[in-house]
Amino acid sequence: MGINCNLTAANIPIIMNLKISSFEEYKQVYQQSVEQPEEFWNGIAENFQWRKKWEKTLEWNFKEPKIEWFKGAKLNITENCLDRHLDTLGNKTAIIWEPNDPNEDHRILTYKQLHDKVCQFANVLKNNNAQKGDRICIYMPMVPELAIAVLACARIGAIHSVVFGGFSAQSIADRIQDASCKLVITADGGFRGAKNIPLKSIIDDALVQCPTVDKVIVLTRTRTPVAMIKGRDVWWEDEVKKVETQGNIPCPAEEMDAEDELFILYTSGSTGKPKGVVHTCAGYMVYTGYTFANVFQYEPGEVFFCTADIGWITGHSYIVYGPLSQGATALMFEGIPTYPNPGRFWDIVEKHRVNILYTAPTAIRSLMSFGTDLLKDKDLSSIKKLGSVGEPINEEAWHWFDENIGHKKCPIVDTWWQTETGGLMISPIANVTKTKPGYATLPLPGVQPVLVDETGKEIEGNGVSGNLCIKFPWPGMIRTTYGDHERCRTAYFATYPGLYFTGDGCLRDDDGYYRITGRVDDVLNVSGHRIGTAEVENAINMHSSVVESAVVGYPHDIKGQGVYAFVVCPEKHINEELTRSDIAMTVARIIGAIAKPDKIQFVTGLPKTRSGKIMRRILRKIAEGETSNLGDTSTLLDPAIVDEIKAGAL
Ligand code: WT7
Repeated sequence: MGINCNLTAANIPIIMNLKISSFEEYKQVYQQSVEQPEEFWNGIAENFQWRKKWEKTLEWNFKEPKIEWFKGAKLNITENCLDRHLDTLGNKTAIIWEPNDPNEDHRILTYKQLHDKVCQFANVLKNNNAQKGDRICIYMPMVPELAIAVLACARIGAIHSVVFGGFSAQSIADRIQDASCKLVITADGGFRGAKNIPLKSIIDDALVQCPTVDKVIVLTRTRTPVAMIKGRDVWWEDEVKKVETQGNIPCPAEEMDAEDELFILYTSGSTGKPKGVVHTCAGYMVYTGYTFANVFQYEPGEVFFCTADIGWITGHSYIVYGPLSQGATALMFEGIPTYPNPGRFWDIVEKHRVNILYTAPTAIRSLMSFGTDLLKDKDLSSIKKLGSVGEPINEEAWHWFDENIGHKKCPIVDTWWQTETGGLMISPIANVTKTKPGYATLPLPGVQPVLVDETGKEIEGNGVSGNLCIKFPWPGMIRTTYGDHERCRTAYFATYPGLYFTGDGCLRDDDGYYRITGRVDDVLNVSGHRIGTAEVENAINMHSSVVESAVVGYPHDIKGQGVYAFVVCPEKHINEELTRSDIAMTVARIIGAIAKPDKIQFVTGLPKTRSGKIMRRILRKIAEGETSNLGDTSTLLDPAIVDEIKAGAL
């Protein structure tokens, strides 16, 4: 993969290969990446195709913040993901698509076919007035056309904003408005397990609030009846036919500046409003390609199955851009792990001879609960490497994965990263780094983590814990939050001046290995999905009989964290069960079903300080089932409320 040559600058060899092959080499390359970061990244970037090389590798400060990588370079990420492979890999499989229903045929797209379809759809976008710099919202099921739509946007320089198919009309509208999207790409519906999600109808509801959108392109997937509004809505298939009758003219890729925006992806933070994380062309491309090749030690021909949805960053980076820039074969699955039965992942592994399986702890825990009988007649012998992402993996799940899926022969890479980091940050390198259950292990070369205490003072040495920060830029990092740079500064760069703050707590053990212990801010991780407590509270408070609410997480066997809501509902004689489901429905309407509270406890008041601040610490303890040891409650306005809440805990 790529070129492998060693240049020398200041007597330190510059490793230009993307892949590290021994722990000794890791240590050496890591050292170099810290001492000579620019030379290090220059070497990595040489593995990609540029229309024009960069004039300056890095310009940065974490104050504004200002982050510019590979300044002056010109490129198009789709030329790296598609065109440059055509001569060597044109007939090799780029995407294997496995449908929701195992009885429907799977699909294969070679690099050549994917290239042609991307060019064709890029022309569709142009025919519909999309131009470089326009924002395009994509709300689609996990079908190959989703990857095609994403790449077609990148090809013409339009900025995609993919919204996960589980979000509500209101959430879509908020995201479309925030970015002033002018076009939406969707489907009539989507299959997920036994459900049929009416995507177009949800889009129609959203668009009532979105005057900037003047075109909607609708793919046929479920044949669910849909409203097609004259002048606004067009069918994907009809538009493709038009391009075909125009003679299928090729679609040359738009020349992009290194720091031109590639996409926006919304994610939750500690405030009520999701942030539009912005990634840019060159840095994101280099970082996802480098981390994919290295961490998974991808070998030509291997089948890589990432079970995430493209609606999340994991799917962007490790179904679409990372694997394709490396000429890999990525498997894309439309359905869910338990449909038509909880053996589905293993059927897919067997059917497509999957070599690398990258999934989430919540999926592992869910499948674990069905026992190992389902595995008995499954041939998992193709699996060589395993990966985990999205939340801390508990040791029980780690061992189950290791023993039953990897048969103790496959390394597990527990990859820590975030929407904001663009790609993997702290992770073992498969077959290079010695793994340890529950540990993301060591930073990748180019990543400089530090632990700090509450005051921002760096905690040095091993056997310590603190708040996880990163002290030097990396190419895949967030550049801004769309439309509001100040928000990017306050959310990530202001808590600890001079550092990027991750929001995670972390332990560094005696071996210098990192273990992520979970969020230290008001963000929950439910089934690997990020949910802001403030967002859920706002949604709950929209319910007509709710006065106020406080949401915290609690340990959940399958989801990792569950959503626990304390709700003040003063109306007497309420039918509690009915009101609970109405509140859950309100949250589903405002955010999406993924944010529905698992538990709703009605209370007459919340524990507040004299200044009116909710003492979440106390609520968290009660939600966790801890009733003694609640700490100091003397500063509360009404300490008696704590006893009431304790007594009513669910
Ligand atoms: C948060 C980021 C990054 C892709 C999926 C989630 C948690 C992520 C791990 C891991 C422990 C992890 C962190 C992080 N997280 N990976 N391997 N071990 N925790 O992306 O929605 O941006 O969430 O997920 O808390 O901050 P995201």
